[in-house]
Amino acid sequence: MKIASFHLALLVVVAGLTGTSCSTTGKKNQPSPQAAPTGAPVPLPTSAGTQDSYSRVATSLPYVALTFDDGPHPTYTPRLLDILKAKNVKATFYVVGTNARRYPEIMRRIIAEGHEIGNHTVNHPNLSKMSDDGVRKELRGTHEAIVAATGMPPRTMRPPYGAITATQKSWIRKEFGYPTILWSVDPEDWKKPGSTAVTSRLVSGAAPGGILLVHDIHGGSIDAMPATIDQIKAKGLQFATVTQLLAMEQR
Ligand code: NI
Repeated sequence: MKIASFHLALLVVVAGLTGTSCSTTGKKNQPSPQAAPTGAPVPLPTSAGTQDSYSRVATSLPYVALTFDDGPHPTYTPRLLDILKAKNVKATFYVVGTNARRYPEIMRRIIAEGHEIGNHTVNHPNLSKMSDDGVRKELRGTHEAIVAATGMPPRTMRPPYGAITATQKSWIRKEFGYPTILWSVDPEDWKKPGSTAVTSRLVSGAAPGGILLVHDIHGGSIDAMPATIDQIKAKGLQFATVTQLLAMEQR
């Protein structure tokens, strides 16, 4: 509750970004509460942030975004959600379309508990080596899978391996509205260095506006989260979703 006034300020910032949130025309920017009917065009997201790409957000506000890639996973993601709920932390999940389609109930739980879902492609390819049409299919497929499961269009994307060209970032931003979200701290948890190492790397790298990369498909990464969250809070930092952090950008 101590940050309620900040949240109010953030709402004002977000309202300013969307421009027409108090008018009826602003309604079209609201996420659809229902999944789109089959065959109907999927609504594209309200744009977030000002840049085509971010590895951190320029802000002096004491917030970081915890992001989890490659899920949802049938056991690790629910275990992570239990931890996040107990710690009252909101996070962002960059899901792959194959898993999004397979575990729609976990997708709905992620949204129901106040987290955010972003687009991490259908098949996790290296986008930088693909044709525009191939990239478009990868992003559209996961966009549609997320909307089908949750009714909430994703507003940001993360390219697998961080591999993406400047040209791709630019047209993806125009066509999908997504800024490309990279990261400022990579603990290389996919190499399974042990949960203590994952925690210490994330905590030492955490700074205002930071974007922390974790994978919710490795048990050791989930095991690292309680201590990671506690130690980041002890540094005076709090947690925001990616679009909340983008709304804190100071230009
Ligand atoms: Ni990935």
